[in-house]
Amino acid sequence: MIQAVSSAQILTGHARLAGVIGWPVTHSRSPLLHNFWLRRYGIDGAYVPLAVQPGRLAEAIRGLQAAGFAGVNVTIPHKEEAFALCDVHQRSAVRAGSVNTVTFLPDGRISGQSTDGSGFVENLRAHGVTLQGRALVLGAGGTARAVVAALLDLGLEVLIANRTRSRAEALVTSLGGGGGVPWEDWRDAIAGCALLVNTTSQGMQGGGSEAFAPDLSHAPRTMVVTDAVYVPRITPFLAAARGHGLRIVDGFGMLLHQARPGFADWFGRDPEVDAEVERVAGAGLI
Ligand SMILES: NC(=O)c1ccc[n+]([C@@H]2O[C@H](COP(=O)([O-])OP(=O)(O)OC[C@H]3O[C@@H](n4cnc5c(N)ncnc54)[C@H](OP(=O)(O)O)[C@@H]3O)[C@@H](O)[C@H]2O)c1
Repeated sequence: MIQAVSSAQILTGHARLAGVIGWPVTHSRSPLLHNFWLRRYGIDGAYVPLAVQPGRLAEAIRGLQAAGFAGVNVTIPHKEEAFALCDVHQRSAVRAGSVNTVTFLPDGRISGQSTDGSGFVENLRAHGVTLQGRALVLGAGGTARAVVAALLDLGLEVLIANRTRSRAEALVTSLGGGGGVPWEDWRDAIAGCALLVNTTSQGMQGGGSEAFAPDLSHAPRTMVVTDAVYVPRITPFLAAARGHGLRIVDGFGMLLHQARPGFADWFGRDPEVDAEVERVAGAGLI
């Protein structure tokens, strides 16, 4: 249920504090999102952007812990280093090989989880997608690893195609599942797939690579197509899929859903993702 949101921020000496560490961090939507939730639920707390240069993550994490922060999100380029700094690794972090959500435990230990995989799954579920059968994942970077792990854990058969083949093979080996498909042949592999996922950075605004709008005319009619890239929300990849009459789910919801476990840990409430949240956090996105 949508509740009335006051514009006044409730902030006392008891305020719970969290934030997002990144470099750069100015593009992050997380402060908009978390502070909206804080206001919506009337929670005495704040969530701030934290620009931390590469090489200074350990210093920053220890400083925030000493200052009484409840935890932080960690984004590019710090996710792998954050894993190394944690004392306790949730299963999701081990599966993803990285940490995007850090919680400072009362006993002084630092706990890390990766919520990209659950965010990906929850976004598709929120759009009514049933996750079963075979999925083809394009890319073998950090996001691909979290997505592939989540899909394997749900029992899907997962195929992975990546420009650099050795990275796809390393992913299959380290996750103990999935199968590699040569990058040149991925279009031939979509027959029989229920889900096609782009986790490459192609199509990202400002990414510098040419538009990624493959011919999907021979895809199964029931195949769902989704993209981790969400700037722009309708990427050339998704536009091409839609042009072929396929069902698409954009990647912005993944960002919203991956934020929920951290908010719940730090502020004590599992927040809702709904149209108003999407509108506020997505303001200005094309
Ligand atoms: N929606 C969300 O919540 C969410 C969450 C996390 C990330 N993302 C987005 O997901 C994307 C990937 O992030 P990441 O952290 O996984 O990046 P990453 O680790 O750097 O991996 C990038 C991937 O893209 C591939 N790639 C890049 N340029 C390519 C090209 N021209 N042709 C073919 N493949 C190409 C790379 O292939 P090689 O191995 O051959 O280099 C690699 O597989 C980014 O756009 C990021 O913003 C979205």
